[in-house]
Amino acid sequence: MTFDLDIKNTVRTIPDYPKPGILFRDITTLLADARAFRRAVDELVHPWAGSKIDKVAGIEARGFILGGAVAHQVSAGFVPIRKKGKLPHKTVSMSYALEYGTDEMEMHVDAVQPGERVILVDDLIATGGTAEGAVKLLRQIGASVVAACFIIDLPDLGGAAKLRALDVPVRTLISFE
Ligand code: PRP
Ligand code: ADE
Repeated sequence: MTFDLDIKNTVRTIPDYPKPGILFRDITTLLADARAFRRAVDELVHPWAGSKIDKVAGIEARGFILGGAVAHQVSAGFVPIRKKGKLPHKTVSMSYALEYGTDEMEMHVDAVQPGERVILVDDLIATGGTAEGAVKLLRQIGASVVAACFIIDLPDLGGAAKLRALDVPVRTLISFE
């Protein structure tokens, strides 16, 4: 895949951030590169070109940047999935697994109508705890989760496999072993 190398080369790796031993995959350099950003958005949604997508749900914070562009590309509405306490209207919430402990994410209760076809978007999938929580939250309000899309997969951490076990088609563009 030619886009693999193109896009992969624009991701910056920061060792020991935010803690020792972590290789942080920084997409700000990809986003700042007009060609790579367009390519990533085009490739993420390629399999659903021409299908009816009602909403794109983006996960705070980096999923907002990509999700907005993806929503525009597929002519869908955008729905933010936020960390607890940030949304002003009535919300539904779901706890999700972090490396140590749990946290909660929320979306507006009326952001998606039952039966609507939704694509979930984030920059990266690692353990899959965040994306799993988002899928459960969307299903809780009756959404049909058509796919989950990420630029980066960290396959050693098993997140994509975890989502596929929930019957969610997963699309990722590049991986770091
Ligand atoms: C990062 C990333 C994903 C999540 C993936 O977000 O953007 O949302 O981690 O990790 P997981 O697959 O192990 O759940 P982070 O929690 O750092 O939040 P941020 O985007 O607000 O910095
Ligand atoms: N989220 C979880 N693991 C990450 C990593 N290695 N780089 C960037 N974001 C992450």
